Amino acid sequence: MISQKTIAQIFETAKIEDVVGDFVNLKRRGVNMIGLCPFHDEKTPSFTVSPAKNICKCFGCGKGGSPVSFLMEHDNLTYPEALRVLAKKYGIEIEEDGNPDKSKEERQHLESLYLINQFTKDFFIDQMNNTDIGRSVGLHYFKDRGFREDIIERFGLGYSPNDGKSLMKKLDDVGYEKTLYEKLGVVKNGRDFFRGRVMFPIHNLTGKCIGFGGRILKANKKAPKYVNSSEAEIYNKSKILYGMFFAKNAIRKKDECILVEGYTDTISLHQAGIENVVASSGTSLTIEQIRLIKRFTPNIKILYDGDAAGVKAALRGLDLVLEQDLNVKVVLLPEGEDPDSYAQAIGTEAFVKYLDEKATDFILFKMNLLMEEAKGDPVKRSDLIKDIVSSISKIPDPIKRSVYVRECALQLDVGEKVLINAVNKNVVGNIQSRQRQQEINERRANRNAFEEAGFPEEDHSGNNDDEFGLPDSKSDNKEFESIGFQEKDIARILINFGHQNFNDDKTIAQFIFTNIGEIMDAFKTAPYNSIVFEYLEAVKNKTSLSPQHFLNHSDQKIREVALNFNSSPYEYSPGWKERFNITTSQPEPDQNFISDTTQALMRFKLEKIKELCEENLERIKSIAGEKDQAKENRYMQVHIRLKKMEKELTDQLNTVVLKQ
Ligand code: CTP
Ligand code: MN
Repeated sequence: MISQKTIAQIFETAKIEDVVGDFVNLKRRGVNMIGLCPFHDEKTPSFTVSPAKNICKCFGCGKGGSPVSFLMEHDNLTYPEALRVLAKKYGIEIEEDGNPDKSKEERQHLESLYLINQFTKDFFIDQMNNTDIGRSVGLHYFKDRGFREDIIERFGLGYSPNDGKSLMKKLDDVGYEKTLYEKLGVVKNGRDFFRGRVMFPIHNLTGKCIGFGGRILKANKKAPKYVNSSEAEIYNKSKILYGMFFAKNAIRKKDECILVEGYTDTISLHQAGIENVVASSGTSLTIEQIRLIKRFTPNIKILYDGDAAGVKAALRGLDLVLEQDLNVKVVLLPEGEDPDSYAQAIGTEAFVKYLDEKATDFILFKMNLLMEEAKGDPVKRSDLIKDIVSSISKIPDPIKRSVYVRECALQLDVGEKVLINAVNKNVVGNIQSRQRQQEINERRANRNAFEEAGFPEEDHSGNNDDEFGLPDSKSDNKEFESIGFQEKDIARILINFGHQNFNDDKTIAQFIFTNIGEIMDAFKTAPYNSIVFEYLEAVKNKTSLSPQHFLNHSDQKIREVALNFNSSPYEYSPGWKERFNITTSQPEPDQNFISDTTQALMRFKLEKIKELCEENLERIKSIAGEKDQAKENRYMQVHIRLKKMEKELTDQLNTVVLKQ
């Protein structure tokens, strides 16, 4: 288990903008940064990063959190896995302590899979560089293909010996479990799987080795040119893009992603200094892959081999890309060339120039290709128009659509009206729902912009239930009034301000617990009760807990709650005050925590009293038949007392609120 000291060090060091920035293209906006949410599909950025608070949050889908929880969600990691990734990123040495960790199994399982892959990758690299056969066969093959040593090293290329058992033997010697390495598919049926092949390790977004492609050395009709690792928990061909780990920064910077088909194409272009390149690994593009690209850029340039018979079929599949509202350009390479061969043949400069000159908008490219075919054939021509119309109607953006309609009408020599009508017919069905979604997104983004500009929300009633000013099905008035809300409110104050001073000798947390100590049993709602009880323990031990403690909590529910409490829009940007030289109508919440606490406690007690009142009334009803006057009187006394307390508290609350 990672020691508390190390965990604390990781929390202190990890910067949310660095961590998110590895996956999302962030732009500054006011005090925050904003980008396209990596967790859901969106057109207008609503993923907000607050460097000051060290948290992120999507105002569209609600996901986000601290550096640790972001990584957990994004890369599907467990808590300790995420900590380890961060430790590695920041060069923090992990100190382990001996406490057994219960939830270890699953994590260890995945970790072992990664470890075996890493070990296997190192083995292939070692075999290629440090054995005679490896050098003369494997390394020679890559060098013969024109790959430089630095590139071979960067991509971790290697060689798998032909004997069929040396990897397995090594894995056994080290003590890796047979079931695990067979599951990964590096060994199958008791034999090394990639016998006599040159090896291309495949990495995930964080650079971990998730699988391999192995290429045969000599053309052999019987054996496939490439074989791949088995698809297991960590390797899913349709969800990854080869080379993304090495390309992501360049894609972001160039604001464009070049998509090729093969491993060697990717490597070759990187070698040529064109680093914004990834490969689909020979399969047709999937929606997951498209979304992966979209996290980094909306611009995609697809390179096709000149002799690819399947270009047309591939183009049909591309409507998927249009639906995602990406800008797609297509480049057809000369007959008989693939990106690897062509870049090596003509050199970087000429290759880049070729891409610039030949890049054609996808729809126009498709149209030209089909027009070529349909020459003089009216049936084919009408099919072609239908095909193009269908592609255009997949584009969500109406302005873009109309530009295409005009252009295509011109080129196809069809009346624009005819085309518009045809497109509209198609669009009506599928676009309505999408537009609705878009409107919602945009409204959210606008609201975001509004907040970012420093304009305070109008509603300062202290109702923090709707932390983001977004409609939330759960936050109707019922919950607001219920005890659940009051518990939530106490938890909110503990998390955000518990560690701050209430007065000279008490922290906010101490104040809260001296006031509600006797009704602690009242905390029933999870996870607020856990938060409150954990804090109570801390207070008993004379310590306090920071917001970061809860933001990084090992319980996911608690992390989520802490995040919601921390990303309130009730923030006033400094600009707002400076520009208008005013004080906003209410003190800033962070300085307002003392009265906030007092009020919350009163509200909490008030709710409790109301609850007791109701219970008491029930009791009075239930004894109505008993004719026990003494009992009835007693309960009536209780009722009167409770009502009096209720009134006092209500009055107090009103005074406090009015004073502000
Ligand atoms: N591919 C595969 N299995 C095959 C053939 C191809 O998985 N039997 C995938 C590989 O990811 C390969 C990509 O499809 O990189 C493109 O195939 P191809 O163009 O045939 O291979 P290249 O990458 O160009 O390899 P080379 O240049 O070595 O022929
Ligand atoms: Mn090739």
